Amino acid sequence: MTDATPRKRLLIRTWGCQMNVYDSTRMADVLAPLGYAPTEQVEEADMVILNTCHIREKATEKVFSDLGRLREAKRERGGDMVIAVAGCVAQAEGAEITARAPWVDIVLGPQSYHRLPEMVARASRAAGAVIETDFPAEDKFDHLPETAAPQGVTAFLTVQEGCDKFCSFCVVPYTRGSEYSRPVAKIVAEAERLVSLGARELTLLGQNVNAWHGEGPDGRPWTLGRLVRQLAEIPRLARIRYTTSHPRDMDADLIAAHGDTPALMPFLHLPVQSGSDRILKAMNRGHTADDYRRLVERLRAARPDLALSTDIIAGHPGETDADHGATVALIRDVGFAQAFSFKYSARPGTPAATMAGQVDEATKDARLAEIQALLRDQQAAFNRSRAGMLAEVLVTGPGRHPGQMAGRTPWLNPVHFDGPASLTGQVVRVAITAGHPNSLSGVIGTPSHATTRERPAA
Ligand code: 5AD
Ligand code: SF4
Repeated sequence: MTDATPRKRLLIRTWGCQMNVYDSTRMADVLAPLGYAPTEQVEEADMVILNTCHIREKATEKVFSDLGRLREAKRERGGDMVIAVAGCVAQAEGAEITARAPWVDIVLGPQSYHRLPEMVARASRAAGAVIETDFPAEDKFDHLPETAAPQGVTAFLTVQEGCDKFCSFCVVPYTRGSEYSRPVAKIVAEAERLVSLGARELTLLGQNVNAWHGEGPDGRPWTLGRLVRQLAEIPRLARIRYTTSHPRDMDADLIAAHGDTPALMPFLHLPVQSGSDRILKAMNRGHTADDYRRLVERLRAARPDLALSTDIIAGHPGETDADHGATVALIRDVGFAQAFSFKYSARPGTPAATMAGQVDEATKDARLAEIQALLRDQQAAFNRSRAGMLAEVLVTGPGRHPGQMAGRTPWLNPVHFDGPASLTGQVVRVAITAGHPNSLSGVIGTPSHATTRERPAA
């Protein structure tokens, strides 16, 4: 290397949602001009960023135990290590972090990532930690440099941040602030750039992604369906997904886009949280269980092969056996291809934390176990139902075994099959031979009875 800048090493650990994964790549981009190159080894790291998640209690505790280990690593390097805590734990518990872990140099909330270089410089001069957890009026995206690193076949693109829904149990409105939509032109430009760098599938991200809205180049108000249709025009962009959606923001145009935009994949993550109207009300979700069922019907009418994923919480305050039964019934009625389910955990500062009728741990455990067993069965059945299909598979790279390749179906299942590495980035037809609990296996190119309506490789 002829670069005069001494190489420094940066380790980023990421917890939580895909938004954090995306933000971590952007933090690496911001620090690259300062000479920071990525590493996986904590011993050689000049800077460590923990990009944290505050959504459940366990995630927070893991951050503190990681900080304990980092204290040792920093000591072994004679103190020569910048430790930063980013993400929603930083946003929510900045003061607690500096009190419990005074060896932390930087605490920064999700809206402050563009200020990292300045904070690194300040940290080297400061006696205590540098803390930045305001919600600035400026748009952080205006200040973040563009990704130049080679792009994988699949990429994330944040289009929306924050949430105004204030579900009773959730910290996001407090840690990520109110809903903000990025402008159309910036999203389209970033999408085009990601595709030019090699991305063939884009997942549009937002805490409430389907609340995204903006003004189109035609001067008219756009919602997410219109944006998806616009992005679908980008040559060589084969696939579009978006996550996470709220049932209340699923408008007619977005539903229609599932039917008329082949690049929009037939998979939707649509959290329902509970199947009981009483609990949905206590959760401040703004919809009933039947509203959700009807929404699913409309989506499936638009796109019959749509696979659904959801989030479920077991044991929200006030939840009775009957409410739990209603959740189980809703899961049975809808049939999910995939799902995430959680035991309710009280998050300080949220309304549910102080509600009457907190459910005891043993009951929560039992309800969660029942829900998870059902969801596991549904996922296994969905995967088995793919066997015999000829699926359009986006090849993402080599598989685990020699000669094996990996990819994903339109329904987001990982697939393994034998094939040459040169297929990476292409959409190929794979005959699915078996559905396993978490993945599929297949053989390239054997015709079968079913195909999807996806656009083939450009
Ligand atoms: N307890 C349990 N699960 C929660 N989630 C959010 N907050 C809590 C909480 N306090 C779950 C919701 C959400 C997902 C990302 O995490 O299901 O959709
Ligand atoms: Fe949290 Fe509800 Fe907003 Fe989702 S919609 S981020 S669960 S407050």
